[in-house]
Amino acid sequence: MTERLFEEKRHASLYQKYRFGPPDELKKLVLHYLDKKVRFPHQLAVDLGCGTGQNSCTLTAYFEQVVGIDVSESQVEQARAVSGFPNLSYRGAAIPDGSVDLLTAASAAHWFDAECFIKEATHVLKPRGCLALFGYGDNMKIHYESCGDRLNNIYEEVSKAISNYNYTSSKITGANSKLKILFETIPFFVRIEIMPIKQQLSIKNAVGFIQIFSMYQAYLRANPSAATALLERTTSRILEEMKVSSTEAKVDFIMKYFCVLACKPE
Ligand SMILES: C[S@@+](CC[C@H](N)C(=O)[O-])C[C@H]1O[C@@H](n2cnc3c(N)ncnc32)[C@H](O)[C@@H]1O
Repeated sequence: MTERLFEEKRHASLYQKYRFGPPDELKKLVLHYLDKKVRFPHQLAVDLGCGTGQNSCTLTAYFEQVVGIDVSESQVEQARAVSGFPNLSYRGAAIPDGSVDLLTAASAAHWFDAECFIKEATHVLKPRGCLALFGYGDNMKIHYESCGDRLNNIYEEVSKAISNYNYTSSKITGANSKLKILFETIPFFVRIEIMPIKQQLSIKNAVGFIQIFSMYQAYLRANPSAATALLERTTSRILEEMKVSSTEAKVDFIMKYFCVLACKPE
């Protein structure tokens, strides 16, 4: 059964605010793989577990049609509120068999029932259609000038505090072990890539990113004042270490992305 941890409207609006799409390097990797397998024009991409649609939106530049699907109505509602992508639609309905050029799941496939997902994916993909399942582990790092590991230690303490309390889901462990189960379930040839990506985030967005973790949301539900205080304390500790006063100041945010790529045989 799917774990339903993304249903709350408040959580979905935080997702819309703090979530970012896949980095360019990852996008290039997926599209390069697809271009070698599937003839142009690329007609249909489906983004399963689309959340508030950041990955779905980036796909619209490369496909005639993009469909985002998510079990959470609140997430889809937020996704639909973003305008400017006429070839993008969101739905919960079935996709016709043999119609999909690319099926993506961004930080989502670890929530799926592996066997059901692979069975469905095999049906909806065209011959030579591709799967790209990507995300990142929980080993994020933050750096700023001469702060050395100090910001990183603060960030790690928060992760530990949340997971000590914890709603520990085996599904999150699944993401961290790079979708091992799915990887082993896919019946056709699979390739896996790991890429560390550095991007700049404001302090506000780096702390906001913690807020969207399902573990943090579980903590917030159980202990609202402690969870809120944890983030406030984290923000002021980071400001203090960086010797800056604005949460708009930028830090380097480093994430280790993984990407499982597979192509359905002809
Ligand atoms: C961590 S969020 C990632 C959202 C988005 N792809 C992103 O990168 O921001 C995981 C999403 O997967 C969705 N999800 C979980 N199980 C699902 C399923 N069986 N079918 C469709 N969506 C699912 C959740 O509702 C949630 O929105």
